[in-house]
Amino acid sequence: MSQAAIELKGIACTFVSDDSGTLSTYTAVKNVDLTVADGEFVSVVGPTGCGKSTLLNMSAGLLEPSAGTVSIFGEPLVGLNRRAGYMFQADSLMPWKSALDNVAAGLLFEGVPEKEAAQRAREWLARVGLTGFEDRYPHHLSGGMRKRVAMAQTLIKDPDIILMDESFSALDIQTRQLMENELLNLWQAKRKAVLFITHDLDEAISMSDRVVVMSAGPESHPIGEFTIDLPRPRDVSEVRVTPRFIELHTAIWSVLREEVLKGYAQQQRKVQP
Ligand SMILES: Nc1ncnc2c1ncn2[C@@H]1O[C@H](COP(=O)(O)OP(=O)(O)OP(=O)(O)O)[C@@H](O)[C@H]1O
Ligand SMILES: [Mg+2]
Repeated sequence: MSQAAIELKGIACTFVSDDSGTLSTYTAVKNVDLTVADGEFVSVVGPTGCGKSTLLNMSAGLLEPSAGTVSIFGEPLVGLNRRAGYMFQADSLMPWKSALDNVAAGLLFEGVPEKEAAQRAREWLARVGLTGFEDRYPHHLSGGMRKRVAMAQTLIKDPDIILMDESFSALDIQTRQLMENELLNLWQAKRKAVLFITHDLDEAISMSDRVVVMSAGPESHPIGEFTIDLPRPRDVSEVRVTPRFIELHTAIWSVLREEVLKGYAQQQRKVQP
């Protein structure tokens, strides 16, 4: 059997904060076991503040766990995860570079000759529907277009693992569904491992092979795991009206609902102690 692309084992993450001289600790996640097989699309859903981004940051090697191990294709992760491409929630384009230069930047950084990098960036911009926009700067692109550039920027390096943190949540619903379908088409062609963080259950079900539900924090951990047996290829808007989708949604929501309510209550306590 091939090694899991990502394996989190017995993961905990405790943050220490300094509130005007008083040190306090907060264990965001604890006892987390989570795997993503090679080529598998896994979504993690859970209430706000439960530790979804924390898990993604650990898989990217941006954050070290306080306990447990992160393995990437069977090797313990040390430093940055070089086999992963990362797409953030916020815009991460360089505003002083054109769309083409933003997409080519990662290749240039790796030492790919300029001409080849530009050619490949052009091809990727075409793949995400942005031919003709190569010379535009990010502030002259719409939010949806910026996401397309970011997607090309992440995928051009052909990572074995794609890590996405609420990447489409700032988009309007139509653009969002277009982007979701585009990502699924690109994924279908290459079948990379995807760890996809979202608070949107519809999005998680329509995209994924598996949906993992996290409990509310502190000490958040997986409390449910659902195989999504909807046929592929999928169209995210069409699949959402099928009886099987509704069945899966009902089953997952019955687990998630209570955690979401707990999560909100906790956030309110944080704001009004
Ligand atoms: N650097 C930090 N120092 C202290 N606490 C932190 C730090 N980073 C995150 N936390 C806390 O850890 C918890 C988990 O944060 P995280 O960002 O992973 O949640 P999330 O599930 O991604 O939330 P959201 O859905 O709102 O994006 C939160 O309660 C947050 O306040
Ligand atoms: Mg987050």
